[in-house]
Amino acid sequence: MTSAHTDPAPVTVRVPAKVNLELLVGPLRDDGFHALSTVYQAVNLHDDVTVAINDEWRCSVVGPYADVVPTDSSNLAMRAARLLADETAIDAAVHISINKSIPVAGGMAGGSADAAATLVACDRLWGLGLSTEELEEYAAELGSDVPFLIRGGTAMGSGRGERLAPVLARGSYHWVFAISDIGLSTPEVYAECDRLRDGSSPRADVPEPNSQLMAALRTGDPHALAPQLTNDLQEAAVSLRPELGELLESGMEFGALGGIVSGSGPTVAFLVEDVEAAIDLTVALTATGAAREVRKAVGPVHGAHVIPARVD
Ligand code: C5P
Repeated sequence: MTSAHTDPAPVTVRVPAKVNLELLVGPLRDDGFHALSTVYQAVNLHDDVTVAINDEWRCSVVGPYADVVPTDSSNLAMRAARLLADETAIDAAVHISINKSIPVAGGMAGGSADAAATLVACDRLWGLGLSTEELEEYAAELGSDVPFLIRGGTAMGSGRGERLAPVLARGSYHWVFAISDIGLSTPEVYAECDRLRDGSSPRADVPEPNSQLMAALRTGDPHALAPQLTNDLQEAAVSLRPELGELLESGMEFGALGGIVSGSGPTVAFLVEDVEAAIDLTVALTATGAAREVRKAVGPVHGAHVIPARVD
């Protein structure tokens, strides 16, 4: 056991959520994943993850979604900490405390974000001094979009989503996220996508990013970006939960420039012109009662980064 006075101070890491501006889904690979071409953007809906040396492994969650997050070894943050400890021969348990405000199972990578934050926090707590590239390699073992949550900003993902390349993006974009109660599991949505395609993918074995989307991102103009938003999983998510189609229509009628299911859903992301438009759309969508919660956000923002320690 480590004595209290020699323990390093707890470390808190803030980590964003993500939205996929483009998600092109290729064929199912032999390993059970789909070949992807995606463009991620990190947005300022955050979780804060604090790690502290502890006598035993422990995970706790506070915040509005605390009751639906597992705190046992199935929690991705717990798996992240144990993976890093095993790989670097660290023999010290930690208490991971998650202050959660990213929607759970919403297609915004909340669980992956906590795993990314935990890697960055444990690296600092244990004084490992790993590079971002090394942390991203461990992140890829935990989930397809975990490496992106370490990097943040706007980036392209290939492979199963874990292989990152930078994207030149100007400006800031204003988003409104409509978060619904209806549950959707990621594997279920991919399976529905395969079912609707009846075994033959319209995409190449290795899908290519859309050059018009890349050009739009260089302009920094949301009007140029809006028509390029694409999600191959959207049809599958709407097929499983038709209410999402209605939610998308409502947002467009209320003045959004573009609307898209976020990742595998069920969160729906609307791109709007500016902060005033974001406030207007948030009020209008909240009034319909069609979503559990409506939140505005801005992207791109930084990936997982250390902030002054937080005590909840
Ligand atoms: O990598 P991650 O744990 O986020 O993936 C969750 C599930 O989503 C996978 O088990 C798989 O069913 C599906 N998936 C996929 N193709 C990808 C990424 C995820 O089929 N590229």
